[in-house]
Amino acid sequence: MTFPILDGKVAIVTGAAMGMGYETAKLFAEAGAKVIVADFNAELGAKVAAEITEAGGTAHFTKVDVSSSEQVQAMVAETVATYGRLDVAVNNAALKPDNAPVAEFDEDYWDRLLSVDLKGTALCMKYEIRQLLAQGGGGSIVNISSVSGFRPQPNNIAYVAAKHGVVGMTKVAALEYGAQNIRVNSVAPGAIDTPMLHAALAETGQTAEEFAPQLSLLGRFGQGREIAQASLWLASDASSYLTGTTIHADAGYTAR
Ligand SMILES: NC(=O)c1ccc[n+]([C@@H]2O[C@H](COP(=O)([O-])OP(=O)(O)OC[C@H]3O[C@@H](n4cnc5c(N)ncnc54)[C@H](O)[C@@H]3O)[C@@H](O)[C@H]2O)c1
Repeated sequence: MTFPILDGKVAIVTGAAMGMGYETAKLFAEAGAKVIVADFNAELGAKVAAEITEAGGTAHFTKVDVSSSEQVQAMVAETVATYGRLDVAVNNAALKPDNAPVAEFDEDYWDRLLSVDLKGTALCMKYEIRQLLAQGGGGSIVNISSVSGFRPQPNNIAYVAAKHGVVGMTKVAALEYGAQNIRVNSVAPGAIDTPMLHAALAETGQTAEEFAPQLSLLGRFGQGREIAQASLWLASDASSYLTGTTIHADAGYTAR
């Protein structure tokens, strides 16, 4: 059941062509938001926007590579051109974790991952916040970190650096823009059943049955919609006294 807690709000969700971003875009539309489905996968992204629209929601696809400043600026401009304003953003797009020990890490992949997962999140905040400031009245930004932003797995130096960075950047933006009523929080998911998780498992050779109990006190992977629910709450006015913090949506992994 979904309450219309984003009724009339305009929301950007990056990385919305699949996985958690897809579930977030769908849930936000169910909650009444006009959703910008932003992704660099144009084929799947356009399908997601069409699926939301066919189900009675409001959505528009925008192609973006979040590591490009020009494209992120264009994404925000297209949001305003399409729906007139911006209220909420979930900065979710990311590349899958690297898979090598520190002494072996792939420097090219480091550059690519940091440009998407870290700088891409910073660029999204930069241009989203500019729009929120120009409008006045505030807004809510949700950055997607990870358990790897708090409690790393081995062999993920680039991903761990990026996801720790997302937590820090979230706090910086919260400090800077609280006075303008722009709230900035993060969600740190545990192991969630998405294409990214399955790609990462395939590389490590672990099965879902082996891995899930190691990461979850509930003994199962999370579903994208369960993370989307945390983002929905942070995006909405229901969380109006939260800024600069993280929701650990990880089935107790970081509590262990
Ligand atoms: N799946 C997990 O277990 C897990 C756990 C913790 C955190 N996370 C985080 O949750 C978020 C979503 O992960 P997911 O599992 O749904 O991933 P996913 O790989 O299933 O989907 C990621 C989406 O991001 C898009 N994307 C990638 N790079 C992009 C770019 N440069 N510009 C625009 N779009 C881009 C992809 O096309 C895809 O649609 C990510 O930030 C990820 O790091 C995932």
